[in-house]
Amino acid sequence: MPRSELASFTDLSPAEDDFLGDVIAGLSASPKSLPCKYFYDERGSKLFEQICALPEYYPTRTETLLMREKAPEMAAAVGADALILEYGCGSIEKVRVLLDALDQPASYVAVDISREHLRAAAEVLAGDYPSVDVHAICADFSQPFEISANLPGRRKMAFFPGSTIGNFEPSEAKAFLTLIADHVGVGGGLLIGADRKKDEAILHAAYNDRAGVTAAFNLNLLSRMKNELDAIVDIDGFAHDARYNAVDGRIEMYLVSQSDQSINVGGRKFSFAAGETIHTENSHKYEIEEFQALGRAAGFEPKTVWSDQDDLFSVHYFEKNAD
Ligand SMILES: C[S@@+](CC[C@H](N)C(=O)[O-])C[C@H]1O[C@@H](n2cnc3c(N)ncnc32)[C@H](O)[C@@H]1O
Repeated sequence: MPRSELASFTDLSPAEDDFLGDVIAGLSASPKSLPCKYFYDERGSKLFEQICALPEYYPTRTETLLMREKAPEMAAAVGADALILEYGCGSIEKVRVLLDALDQPASYVAVDISREHLRAAAEVLAGDYPSVDVHAICADFSQPFEISANLPGRRKMAFFPGSTIGNFEPSEAKAFLTLIADHVGVGGGLLIGADRKKDEAILHAAYNDRAGVTAAFNLNLLSRMKNELDAIVDIDGFAHDARYNAVDGRIEMYLVSQSDQSINVGGRKFSFAAGETIHTENSHKYEIEEFQALGRAAGFEPKTVWSDQDDLFSVHYFEKNAD
């Protein structure tokens, strides 16, 4: 079989009109903001991979180590003949640890918004795991979407690593976990990574790395506006900044205007004063009990939680309750 046919591919991705509409809505708001999902085009996805390898960026390293150490326990919780659904799969690396430990996993569904990155990563995975039925769905997971009922597998298990759940406001996170609960059904499982609250200095360093990769990732939003929406924008006229908001327990990322200037896009002009910000991402941090309460509110029962010895990161296993 040619490599391009190893994994099935379904494209439910958002249209360019949505991008323009979201940019206009975000820059018209006060304070200005842009949705973080637009970080992830091909370049943004590659920059995120580089972030994961940075010395200051502890989440990926810590979660991966936890998964490697605890994979047998995680696999035992999931059981044999599973159908794994991964949301925001990125480069599809972490699930390999799980697939290696699982007893005869039946199928794997990868969902991500970054079309070409997803397509390529799903093909590689399908080539490496020929006994697993691999499907890729390019979709915006912040909107409801269906997963085919006809995929092989006895038990559905959602996998949502990377603390991507932290990008949602807590009320949106509850709604999203409820959508996952619908996807896995009663008795289904959820294995999910959640970043923990910690010393602000560790957080500040992780999101303001010395090499400037997170800055390039944040500024990529402006590059996308320029390339895809013909925006007139001075990308060098904005700087990256990530701040910890202790009240809301979250890192907030901003693009900060370095002077009085404007961005023109979609026939509209948006003025900026020097120092004015565009809020681009939140990354909420959760204590273990807080996160278990969030899971419960979405209809899941907390079963097991794993954390590292420095209390940096947690991986939770939940099961969907009967309604
Ligand atoms: C923080 S990265 C995590 C990647 C990977 N799961 C990991 O743990 O390293 C977030 C991932 O979610 C995807 N993503 C972000 N917002 C999305 C959305 N609204 N719909 C679908 N995928 C999204 C991005 O393309 C990216 O691959």
